[in-house]
Amino acid sequence: MKPSIESAGDSFPREERVLPRHVGIIMDGNGRWAKQRGLPRSLGHRAGAINFKKIARYGSSIGLEYMTVYAFSTENWKRPEEEVGALMVLFKQYLKDALRDFLKERIKIHFLGDTSVFSPDLRELIQETEEAAKQQEGMILNIAMNYGGRSEIVHAVRQLARQVQEGSLSPRDIDEEALSSHLYTAGQPDPDLIIRPSGEYRTSNFMLWQAAYAEYIIMEDILWPDFTPEHLEWALDEYARRNRRFGGI
Ligand code: IPE
Ligand code: IPE
Ligand code: MG
Repeated sequence: MKPSIESAGDSFPREERVLPRHVGIIMDGNGRWAKQRGLPRSLGHRAGAINFKKIARYGSSIGLEYMTVYAFSTENWKRPEEEVGALMVLFKQYLKDALRDFLKERIKIHFLGDTSVFSPDLRELIQETEEAAKQQEGMILNIAMNYGGRSEIVHAVRQLARQVQEGSLSPRDIDEEALSSHLYTAGQPDPDLIIRPSGEYRTSNFMLWQAAYAEYIIMEDILWPDFTPEHLEWALDEYARRNRRFGGI
């Protein structure tokens, strides 16, 4: 599929459209965006971080209940040290601002992934934000950082195994619900829609368990820093046209 906003046709009247409860976004294409402009990749990440705030705000303003953004994968550590370093600086800087603003704007931030590996100051920022979010109402914004779908499942399985070892859980009680309740998204609905700008047709280890019945929209002609609220609207219209069957008829 090669969606473009121009070819979208009529959009749905907003009041008739079925909105997804949970939207996942793989924020891909920062590097290519910078390359197109002859800029260092770190400036692409900066532009991507600015856009992240804009799109999260927009999602909240139209009534999405959950949004999950993929910011840094467990595999992204493979990148050159300089790029990873620039990303960590950005996370700190932008988290600080975004967190302050989001708290004012009724956006509840939650982190997905193993955040224990980050520097003490970044970890502290993460903890403060999650703590503050507890008193907050509004859209849940999951930020997936040092997140990988496989490692999330391993982490959940390890917790279940520990309970079995301690005798508080019987193997026969391990079911889908039990496993889900140990994922970083415990208690949240699965994503209904996953959007990936920049045209890669792969999951890149994003929400492997939760995406079992998610609708995917790959947008080929748009890189994350250029992704606008109109692109999100286009994707929401396209989602509303999909016929979800969940294995039924
Ligand atoms: C996504 O943009 C941001 C991160 C993975 C941190 P990329 O950096 O992957 O951008 P491309 O894919 O190289 O264009
Ligand atoms: C996925 O993008 C991770 C994030 C957007 C954070 P990548 O750029 O890392 O994915 P691959 O390497 O192209 O599959
Ligand atoms: Mg990429």
